[in-house]
Amino acid sequence: MDNNKWQTAITDIEPGKIRVRGYDITDMMDNLSFAQTVYLILRGELPDDKEARMMEAILVSSIDHGASPPSVLGTRTVMSGGNSLNASVAGGVLVIGDSHGGAIEQSARIMQAWAEKEGTPQELAKSLVAEMRASKKRMPGFGHRLHKTDPRTLKLFEIAEKLEFSGRHTELAIAIEAELEKASGRKLPINVDGAIAAVISDMGFDWRLGKGFFIISRVPGLIAHAYEEMTTEKPMRTLGNTDFEYSGPPERKI
Ligand SMILES: CC(C)(COP(=O)(O)OP(=O)(O)OC[C@H]1O[C@@H](n2cnc3c(N)ncnc32)[C@H](O)[C@@H]1OP(=O)(O)O)[C@@H](O)C(=O)NCCC(=O)NCCS
Repeated sequence: MDNNKWQTAITDIEPGKIRVRGYDITDMMDNLSFAQTVYLILRGELPDDKEARMMEAILVSSIDHGASPPSVLGTRTVMSGGNSLNASVAGGVLVIGDSHGGAIEQSARIMQAWAEKEGTPQELAKSLVAEMRASKKRMPGFGHRLHKTDPRTLKLFEIAEKLEFSGRHTELAIAIEAELEKASGRKLPINVDGAIAAVISDMGFDWRLGKGFFIISRVPGLIAHAYEEMTTEKPMRTLGNTDFEYSGPPERKI
């Protein structure tokens, strides 16, 4: 190793050769699915069959959720303003944050920190929810504007159970959902971000990769929305909520 050079352990290239994490790209093209390849590049090692199947389900789960999510509005608004496909998709990706899609990161961070503590999932959930409520914070990965029960969560948990990935983080997520309902009197279902956070935590992923899972899954959806906006809608059409009123000072003189 030459200490004057910076190091990368991801991909090695030379004329006529590309090796990702040591595997020849042409061999990968012959033998790996996209989900297996994503797992390899993020983790550095090939997944086993169960890890590959779980990864597949995670990446499929968030590909799109209709025309209303903020990232889709971001993509369509940038396109509607007269920009390129790449600018529109980048605009949508920039909208992904702690409240939308990116909740995976903070949800996984919290679950990983709390799952290490002593106590049953129910005991931990009780203390965690009390702490969040005392500091007036929302629990990332819980609540949904549309779904009372998020169908993607049920399916991800069902697959995780079958593949034996359902561990302490998933148990904690389920206990948090119950505790939130007990404490607030309203059902705040584990949304897809919370479910992915629990499952990737049970798979041993670092929480700092959390937003990456959503971005990888959602970008094809954003490309479809950018392309549809480009080919079927007129420029600068009205998008988003325009039901607002002015609340600033009345007309005045300088
Ligand atoms: C997703 C979300 C924005 C949907 O919100 P919504 O259904 O429009 O609900 P509101 O923002 O109007 O909140 C309604 C009430 O539920 C509470 N609430 C909503 N989500 C909550 C959460 N995750 N933790 C604790 N309380 C929550 C709000 O504080 C509010 O309480 P109040 O009426 O006492 O002030 C919201 O649940 C949230 O912020 N979740 C956390 C972020 C997240 O997981 N995002 C990923 C979405 S897929």
